[in-house]
Amino acid sequence: MIKIKSAREISLMRQAGKITAAARALAGDMVTAGVTTREIDKAVRDYIVSQGAVPTFLGYNGYPASVCISVNDELIHGIPGKRELKEGDVVSIDVGATKDGYVGDCAATFIVGDGDEEAKRLIAVTRQSFFEGIKYAREGYRISDISHAIQEYVESNGFSVVREYVGHGVGAKMHEDPEVPNYGKPGHGPRLMRGMTIAVEPMVNMGGAAVRVLDDDWTVVTADGSLAAHYENTILITAGEPEILTVSEVI
Ligand code: MF3
Ligand code: CO
Repeated sequence: MIKIKSAREISLMRQAGKITAAARALAGDMVTAGVTTREIDKAVRDYIVSQGAVPTFLGYNGYPASVCISVNDELIHGIPGKRELKEGDVVSIDVGATKDGYVGDCAATFIVGDGDEEAKRLIAVTRQSFFEGIKYAREGYRISDISHAIQEYVESNGFSVVREYVGHGVGAKMHEDPEVPNYGKPGHGPRLMRGMTIAVEPMVNMGGAAVRVLDDDWTVVTADGSLAAHYENTILITAGEPEILTVSEVI
């Protein structure tokens, strides 16, 4: 069942979204050589708590941190720890914050220092695929119209979309209906209606689409060891352009 949010719920989602996006930006600014992923996690947690919000990921299905930090061939769900970032690392930051009972969920990939051209192209294509997808995120279209646009854009740029993990509805819970895949034929799935809030989150590999989960039972890596990138925002469906809820002045 897809929940249509009331005006009150939407304003709470905006508050949660702002905090989440600011946390992503703060984490992104910390993506520099020599910082440990644990230091980023702590800064994000402190910031979210300072805003009167709760880090949504902490304890979710037993997840042990407030942010997912996935480096190089790690796609999603990397656990922060003592790893030190180094020049050229490709670093995906995924963060969620719950404020007054509503969730914001967003992600982006950053690079340490200059990075190489192909890595930068992967990050740019992944981000742009989100914007290509949300051209169809409005009343009247169907979920897979978004999915198809993302897949088309990513594959026409020579990269692969991951199938095993998808975007999702978001609201009082981080994961609500519907699923929002990053691949598929257009014209399928639920019809979009104003008041729906969804997280659109392309996950893109430089090489093949296959992924596997490491022994820590969380970290998802590319099967071929190629680089991966992620970009996500929580959006509100309207009659016109979608409203991106995970925005802050800093991004
Ligand atoms: N953005 C991710 C998602 O949409 C984050 C979940 S990580 C977890 O599923 F640790 F909370 F599980
Ligand atoms: Co998500």
